[in-house]
Amino acid sequence: MKTLFTEKQISSRIKQIAKQINVDYKNKELVLVCILKGSLIFFSDLLKQITLPVSFECIKASSYKGCKSEGVVIFCNQELSFINGKHLLIVDDIIDTGLTLDSLVKNISSVYSPLSIKTCVLFSKKIKRDIQADYKAFDIENEFVVGYGLDYNERYRNLPCIKIYNQEHNVTR
Ligand code: IMP
Ligand code: MG
Repeated sequence: MKTLFTEKQISSRIKQIAKQINVDYKNKELVLVCILKGSLIFFSDLLKQITLPVSFECIKASSYKGCKSEGVVIFCNQELSFINGKHLLIVDDIIDTGLTLDSLVKNISSVYSPLSIKTCVLFSKKIKRDIQADYKAFDIENEFVVGYGLDYNERYRNLPCIKIYNQEHNVTR
């Protein structure tokens, strides 16, 4: 099973992104939102590299592809009014079709009034889509990846690196 990114590669790229975020949001009130569960590990590693006085919240979102009427369901319907008047950065694991992030941005901005909304992802799949993430660690081919928080049927989230999932093999440490 092929390792796509090692822990070291991920960690050094996260440091670069955090550095950019630290510059972009200097003297601004920033709230980070972690999209569970996939971005949990990425989020916590990113958070530790941010030197600004930020606050954060976690929300659970899930996209239902092929069911356009539903789009994204936010399972934990949290009260997010503390983001009003602040800059919001939504952090997810991966942007594939863009449905999840697009719906989240639309959903949140229809209910709340943050000063700005931007998105940050660990991976962006190289496919044609309307929405792009504002910050991304890596572009990847249109392959299914697991590890570092990302799952296949809830498995492999605990892998410290990123592997390309191959159904014919089991991913092992
Ligand atoms: P989108 O809504 O199509 O952009 O898909 C985003 C969500 O699908 C992510 O938050 C992941 O939970 C899941 N996803 C998409 N591609 C992958 C992958 O390669 N590995 C693991 N999860 C994925
Ligand atoms: Mg996810």
